[in-house]
Amino acid sequence: MCGIVGYVGKQKAAPLIMEGLKRLEYRGYDSAGVAVFQDGRFELAKKIGRVANLEIEAARHKLTGHQGIGHTRWATHGGVTDANAHPHISSDGTIALIHNGVIENYAQMKKFLLTKGFTFKSETDTEVLCNLIAYHYAKEPKPTNGDSRFVESVRKTLGHAEGTYGIVIMALDAPGELVTARKGSPLILGLGDGESLVASDVSAIVSRTQNVVYLKDGEIAHLTANNFSITTLSSGTVEPVIDKVTWSIEDAEMGAHAHFMEKEIFEQPTALENAMRGRFSEDGSTAKFGGLNITAGEFRGVDRFMFCACGTALHACMVTEHLIERFARIPVECDYASEFRYRNTPLFRNSLFFVMSQSGETIDTLAAMREAKRKGYKVLAINNVVGSTIAREADGGIYQHVGPEVGVASTKAFTSQLLIGAMLALYLARMRDMSFSDGTQFVEALKQAPNLVRKALEQAPHIKAIAKRYAKSQDMLFLGRLSLFPIALEGALKLKEISYIHAEGYPAAEMKHGPIALISPECPSVFFAPNNEIFNKVVSSMQEIKARKGPIIAIVTEDAELPDGLADEVIRIPQCHEAVLPIVASIPVQLLSYYIAVERGCDVDKPRNLAKSVTVE
Ligand code: AGP
Repeated sequence: MCGIVGYVGKQKAAPLIMEGLKRLEYRGYDSAGVAVFQDGRFELAKKIGRVANLEIEAARHKLTGHQGIGHTRWATHGGVTDANAHPHISSDGTIALIHNGVIENYAQMKKFLLTKGFTFKSETDTEVLCNLIAYHYAKEPKPTNGDSRFVESVRKTLGHAEGTYGIVIMALDAPGELVTARKGSPLILGLGDGESLVASDVSAIVSRTQNVVYLKDGEIAHLTANNFSITTLSSGTVEPVIDKVTWSIEDAEMGAHAHFMEKEIFEQPTALENAMRGRFSEDGSTAKFGGLNITAGEFRGVDRFMFCACGTALHACMVTEHLIERFARIPVECDYASEFRYRNTPLFRNSLFFVMSQSGETIDTLAAMREAKRKGYKVLAINNVVGSTIAREADGGIYQHVGPEVGVASTKAFTSQLLIGAMLALYLARMRDMSFSDGTQFVEALKQAPNLVRKALEQAPHIKAIAKRYAKSQDMLFLGRLSLFPIALEGALKLKEISYIHAEGYPAAEMKHGPIALISPECPSVFFAPNNEIFNKVVSSMQEIKARKGPIIAIVTEDAELPDGLADEVIRIPQCHEAVLPIVASIPVQLLSYYIAVERGCDVDKPRNLAKSVTVE
């Protein structure tokens, strides 16, 4: 949550920072602000609302300096006001700071600072941290270890801070210098030609440089236009590793699409191709993964898998659970990462952990992973963002390789997680009882996934017309069984997060144990009814809804025959292997949610109260 950009170099800082903030806006969009160092002082512009509002405000401030910091906020401490927007400047005017995270002991710090004469304009924990740095900076003698006084005062302050932070700081008497530090919130340094950048996400940097350094927890970096150095919070030295970003700025642009979500929905065939490229064995009978860092023997010894994730990624875990249990016959448990951490689940000796996370920065998932590691378990990660904290802290993992996902509502990342989950099930099944020929068929089926998704996307105009008819609904049910129950949950999540329609996902037959009370002509039900062994059972559940005058939108495979007049709307998807079915069945609900949200005039890519990656507990 919260987007962070810092710049020092030859260019005017404010336009570059605001361009970066626009690319980060999906991380939080309650307010935005920028502070530039110019003419020996900080010039500050901040405004509630989007970066577009900030641009208007910034124009009044004539921001000409070549060094600055900017922020988009997702509010935690303090309401959405101009005063609470970042950057914050210390009351003595010496320090400017932006912050992503939560300082838990800010109240004690504030009490102390009030006794020292500092004053506060906002209700934020960030302003407290800013003033504490100013306090230490004023007292700090020139260090003898070669570090700057600026770095030392930040180090000293952070020694007192409890909680999480990604911060970037400017000091009034250190022109041309930025100091940045992290604990629990991502930060990436960008090393350009005569300029240095820092941001919470590569997308804010990649238009200036592809040379980046991923800062680790507990590290402090000192940046000038032409140089940088990294030390640890405990004054240790760090040998930085410079990475190259493998995608370009065009990958993070919308092109001809109306929204990122639309772009990312239609990108799914290519995304799936990328996610499976090079990941099948030469004999074409199983999957292979390069970075698991675990031997086949170790895998064979696992008698239980535990998957932890949040939101959409948890739904992908639930489908994976179904497929691993069905094909590899190994028990799997899925848990909300946020619950796992505090639930103290009894664990089996030979359990193996997986976490799934598009961003690789979700704090609940990261905390669950750390808890499992603390208990001595290996943790593998399925993750999209290369170099993310989860990717770096995991013992091994599988990258999704679908490029940047910008829309807050996850689409291509989700279906690629489903694909990787299916490949994992195949890999495990082939180690156990699955035959060579069944494995070969499975592989062939997975290779069909991109084309089947292409076919499902052809239904877009039909689904758009359906969306228009149901856009005024207040409630909606999503009902599916077996591997499509998690897709029902995902359909409901997608609809509520971008259209604000109340929606619930249920196992289709479970609906009669409560949710059926919601049914009325105003509450449509979206049913998944593939032609499989329980098709008739799902049809019976539809009849129960129909008998109570509930409208039915049925998502059925091409070969399924519904009784005449049962469904009000029918969306056909191609027949496919059961490992591919959840992927293909996701497409109509993504499109339905998208078109309903557009019809309702919602801000699809930036739904209210949400942020793309949730880095606070
Ligand atoms: C998906 O549409 C949501 N925006 C949300 O549930 C998301 O999947 C969740 O926050 C987990 O994010 P992650 O995959 O980056 O960990």
